[in-house]
Amino acid sequence: MEKTSKNTFYITTPIYYVNDIPHIGHAYTTIIADALSRYKKLAGYDVFFLTGTDEHGQKVEKSAAEKGLKPIELADKVVGRFKNLWQALNISYDGFIRTTATRHEQGVQKIFKILLDKGDIYKGLYEGWYCVSCENFLPEDVREDDQGRKFCPDCEKEAGIVSEKTYFFRLSAYQKPLLDFYKKYPKFVRPKSRMNEVVSFVRQGLKDLSITRTTVRWGIPVPGDPEHTIYVWFDALHNYLTGIGYDLDKKTFERYWPADIHLIGKDILRFHAVFWPAFLMAAGFPLPGTILGHGWWLKDESKMSKSRGNVLDPHVILDTLGPDPLRYFLLREIPIGLDGNFSHEGFLHRVNSDLANDLGNLVQRTLTMISKYFGGLLGDVAPENESDGHLREEFERKKKTVLGYYDDYALNKVLEEMWTYINSVNRYLADNEPWKVAKDPEQKHRLSRILYQSAAAIRTIAVLLYPIMPDSMNKVWDLVGEEGSIGEQRLANLHFEDLPADRSIKKPSALFPRVDLKDFLEEKKAEAAPKIQAVKEDKMEQITFDEFKKMDLRVAEILKAEKVEGTDKLLKLEVDIGTEKRQLVAGVADVYTPEDLVGKKLIVIVNLQPAVIRGVESRGMLLAAEIDNKAVIPFFGPDVPAGAKVK
Ligand code: MSP
Repeated sequence: MEKTSKNTFYITTPIYYVNDIPHIGHAYTTIIADALSRYKKLAGYDVFFLTGTDEHGQKVEKSAAEKGLKPIELADKVVGRFKNLWQALNISYDGFIRTTATRHEQGVQKIFKILLDKGDIYKGLYEGWYCVSCENFLPEDVREDDQGRKFCPDCEKEAGIVSEKTYFFRLSAYQKPLLDFYKKYPKFVRPKSRMNEVVSFVRQGLKDLSITRTTVRWGIPVPGDPEHTIYVWFDALHNYLTGIGYDLDKKTFERYWPADIHLIGKDILRFHAVFWPAFLMAAGFPLPGTILGHGWWLKDESKMSKSRGNVLDPHVILDTLGPDPLRYFLLREIPIGLDGNFSHEGFLHRVNSDLANDLGNLVQRTLTMISKYFGGLLGDVAPENESDGHLREEFERKKKTVLGYYDDYALNKVLEEMWTYINSVNRYLADNEPWKVAKDPEQKHRLSRILYQSAAAIRTIAVLLYPIMPDSMNKVWDLVGEEGSIGEQRLANLHFEDLPADRSIKKPSALFPRVDLKDFLEEKKAEAAPKIQAVKEDKMEQITFDEFKKMDLRVAEILKAEKVEGTDKLLKLEVDIGTEKRQLVAGVADVYTPEDLVGKKLIVIVNLQPAVIRGVESRGMLLAAEIDNKAVIPFFGPDVPAGAKVK
């Protein structure tokens, strides 16, 4: 949508749940937002970049209770962890909103009241299947299994039936306005494929939405009816308004609203592309410009999440390499919108080849020669010859293309294009062979021109890459004798020939050291081992013997074993637990083959809530030690019968 003031740019990340620990998936969303926000600032916009935390709801309530904490105590702790990660990743947000902040709670209550008075919110009775883990009612089309159960299509956990008095939002009234809106702004949701998804969902018809709960205490009370708390998604989405001063700071609010981009992962598209614009229409706000939906970072082919136990802690990389290699990799590897599989091998390959070799060496070589042959001062440079001119002109062309990609939010293309330029500069040096020219004292000015072209190119590269790698590009900026941060520059003023030849250039320091994969992984494992141990000890609460007795642990014999199709790690097992046969899914296929396991006896917890893992039901769990991320199962000898109690 058009804004009244063209010069502002408001970008948001989703607000993160505080029951999860921050991982590479969360880092990805925030890094994209940071890069776009820095780019827009360089492009001369008055930018507001908002992030924050989503702190209410059943998940947080439950997770806090499990840890023996009050919900707000858990939230305070986890907020600190998110803020630490953002600092380590050099994220330059302008505002951080917590949904437990008074300014947010009051804003949400105010809007709720407006919609209630208007009749877009009304009270009724709701009965439906509800997933506690996702805090969401299941879609209508989820079928019951043969035992009358339903499983959440997102997290695959078993859902329960909830019946309660509730306030509804009159979503059904917004089907047509939404479809008209999508038609008018076909780029509202990007990528396009996601827009199509949204349109076909809305075309199927919209039911009114239950937006309050009586079963959840940890939430914003409904104004005038505090037995009800406001559903966490209604609460959370409004952070985009309260985070820029809705109802408190009219000037800031009007300056930035509507948002230009809500950046989100594809899992929360419907909330942002259907519910959110409907809420906004109802309350009479202008609608945001773009919902940009990115894909997922997968580990071992499934989405990283704490409940799946496959999260990657970004600190492992950040502590050793600083923020830029990870920022670069996540943005370079996949186009926004597609999924990517994270591996340390892939990551380090890119760091070594693109950052250490292509870019790092270019800076290192050029600056070393300027220092060695000229003591850092190029002085008189010979006039440009044809190949010098080509390099300069190529920059002007690249600048145009790269800015176009930034404007199109195609950050992987920005990097692809920038690397073609970096390679051109490397080729220019290889063709002009300054190390040979240096041997002829008569060619001093020619030598100075070659190195000038390379240094001038490096300076421009630093500015264009700054939104993605701010830390290291500011170092380059300093090396080429500039002052302050690139963040204060304006792209419109960026020209190749702006580097004065009489500028003092510094001696280089290694920008991106090469990393040996084997050493890196070994070192990380050694460091991580004591850390993981310590964290676990710190987290484990004491339990009573009665609590321990609640676990039904038994010896089970494995009768059948086979791989779960399409996975590397999962085995489907049929086990005899003494009283019956059970099906389990176990993540041990990277260590044990099906043949290793058939006939073996081990310990199974049989009264664990069933779960569906990659579409296969698991009723119980085998116990194993975890060594270096791999399972080691303790087995019993043949004389121990299946069904024997373990205590
Ligand atoms: N609290 C809601 C958002 C409310 S916004 C009004 C939420 N929180 S979340 O912490 O679960 O997820 C936040 C963002 O992180 C989402 O955009 C989600 O897609 C993203 N990611 C979480 N795991 C991810 C990956 N493994 N890969 C990429 N991004 C993923 O949803």
